[in-house]
Amino acid sequence: MNEQTAIKTEKSKVTVELKTDALSRADLNDLCDAAEAAIEAGGGFGWLRVPERDSLERYWQGVIAAPMRLLFLARLDGVICGTTQLILPPLNNEAQKHIVQLTTNFVAPWARGHGLAKMLLEKVEGEARLKGYSVINLDVRNTMEQAIALYESMGYIKFGEHPFSVVADNQTITSSYYYKNINPDYFNSQ
Ligand SMILES: CC(C)(COP(=O)(O)OP(=O)(O)OC[C@H]1O[C@@H](n2cnc3c(N)ncnc32)[C@H](O)[C@@H]1OP(=O)(O)O)[C@@H](O)C(=O)NCCC(=O)NCCS
Repeated sequence: MNEQTAIKTEKSKVTVELKTDALSRADLNDLCDAAEAAIEAGGGFGWLRVPERDSLERYWQGVIAAPMRLLFLARLDGVICGTTQLILPPLNNEAQKHIVQLTTNFVAPWARGHGLAKMLLEKVEGEARLKGYSVINLDVRNTMEQAIALYESMGYIKFGEHPFSVVADNQTITSSYYYKNINPDYFNSQ
């Protein structure tokens, strides 16, 4: 059972959770549907076209099985509609053991505007802090204006740009790199 943070809005129940057990068949279907909708809308976390359903299913099952990844889910009225992941630092990287990488962050178009992306990020930050991490890194294409507005409104600080970060539809797209210090005490005590 995953611990959920829930908010009941006027019309819909919105929840976010850290997924710690296996994905049920229904959840796997919903997760694939949400990913397909996000890819079709152009926010495909790397995928440019919707892959075969088998590949998507194997991808999500791989994420759940990966020891160095944490999978977070957002639900609207119980249906998975968004997700994000944290990649934990490899054990050999003691010098950067305080940093986690946020990736694969999206909400399906039909579920946007309910505050779920913000709730997901708050959950991610809370869990990362609980697990002893102090910094979250992320990168985002400069074309993703809503995501950039969200990250900046939540205190993520831009520290650079990569002009050759993404090639999509024969266009090269610049990405921006952000960090957030989620535990300033850690650095004060070093
Ligand atoms: C970016 C994204 C995750 C936002 O999801 P969402 O659930 O609609 O976001 P929320 O409802 O939680 O909104 C949170 C904040 O996001 C920003 N935001 C969301 N939609 C916005 C819009 N249409 N215009 C401007 N800002 C917007 C706002 O800062 C908003 O804060 P507010 O509550 O003060 O208005 C979603 O649009 C998405 O998946 N986009 C495509 C994929 C993507 O860009 N992923 C990030 C890659 S790193």
